[in-house]
Amino acid sequence: MKIGTPKEIFDGENRVALTPDSALQLQKLGFACLIESGAGKAAGYSDKIYKEAGVKVVKTAAALWKEADVVTKVRQPSTAELKRLSAGQTLISFFNPAVNEQGLDLAKSKKANVIAMEMVPRISRAQKMDALSSMANIAGYRAVIEASNNFGRFFTGQVTAAGKVPPAKVLIIGAGVAGLAAIGTATSLGAITYAFDVRPEVAEQVESMGAEFVYLDFEEQQQDGAKTGGYASVSSPEFREAQLAKFRELAPEVDIVITTALIPNREAPELWTADMVKSMKPGSVIVDLAAEKGGNCKLTVLDEKIVTDNGVTIVGYSDFPSRMAAQASNLYSTNIRHMISDLAPEKDGEINHNMEDDVIRGATVRYRCKNAGKAKRVVSRGTKGERARGV
Ligand code: NAI
Repeated sequence: MKIGTPKEIFDGENRVALTPDSALQLQKLGFACLIESGAGKAAGYSDKIYKEAGVKVVKTAAALWKEADVVTKVRQPSTAELKRLSAGQTLISFFNPAVNEQGLDLAKSKKANVIAMEMVPRISRAQKMDALSSMANIAGYRAVIEASNNFGRFFTGQVTAAGKVPPAKVLIIGAGVAGLAAIGTATSLGAITYAFDVRPEVAEQVESMGAEFVYLDFEEQQQDGAKTGGYASVSSPEFREAQLAKFRELAPEVDIVITTALIPNREAPELWTADMVKSMKPGSVIVDLAAEKGGNCKLTVLDEKIVTDNGVTIVGYSDFPSRMAAQASNLYSTNIRHMISDLAPEKDGEINHNMEDDVIRGATVRYRCKNAGKAKRVVSRGTKGERARGV
């Protein structure tokens, strides 16, 4: 079977779903690999490097979609791309199935199979395919790099002949995958790092990474993440008030705020208000990783960097993984390779779409049963977490 990877067409997307290393591994599983000419360029992989790895370079996207049995992509495919699907073909990509009814219908009309990478169940066995975590890890790291790039001082404290330099104080709001990566990065740069999350069970992880967990003076118990599959739910108004009061207290003291707070199926909660921004010191930086979902900071502008009248820089980019395209492509294509490896357990270059396998079934959002004669939409029951997220 042939695995083909087209060039990403989303404006500004630098990642590619197949790296030369992954191609070598896939060939060992018996697959032939194809890539559209130029697909890896923005991630640092030339056509020549692919050719050296035994990959056939195809001139056009149309030719690639026509020849491949399995198409791998990063971004949710466009309508034009989906129209290129053919009967029996398998697409493996981020797909946003919860809100992509049109895409699912198109795939069905084309009698194609779709594996959505955001649907991979978050269980231990599937960690190697968990592209959401791979990308969130990069986003958390890159958020700190963006913050330091816009911050006029060191993160670490120093005593030099020219004077004493205080360490930067960094507050991370939301300690999921991205938040923990940001904590690790900020701490390793020498900052004093604080973190807050509505799920108290992450306090231990936060502290084990060298950050201080911010506790609220609040009687009601914080959220029990175990009840929502590890994800957050909406806080009570009283809890929210206590949270905002704490942040108001911290705002004039911290130099950097990195917000990563998300609630499945909802707009991001607004946690860093305009008055908090106003009370921050000039030169402070906010990086809002929730910008795409509306932002955790009231003043965030999606996909832009702004500087407020009081000199606070607010970064609202939504493409952090793409800003580290080589690393992101490397991890994402490894996630995809593991998925294909599980789809081809015989290592004979043939896909055996085993719907008895929890992980494959969980990630499959459209499947044409070989014997059924017609396409079926397979609705994954998934884990508690996926159900909570509605993906
Ligand atoms: P996410 O991206 O949905 O949310 C980010 C963080 O924001 C979460 O920690 C959430 O609790 C927090 N948050 C939401 N509202 C907040 C508020 N008002 N104030 C402060 N923080 C707020 O989360 P992500 O990174 O996708 O992780 C979600 C869960 O999935 C975690 O429990 C994580 O441990 C689990 N997970 C499990 C994996 C596995 O078992 N293989 C792999 C990756 C994640």
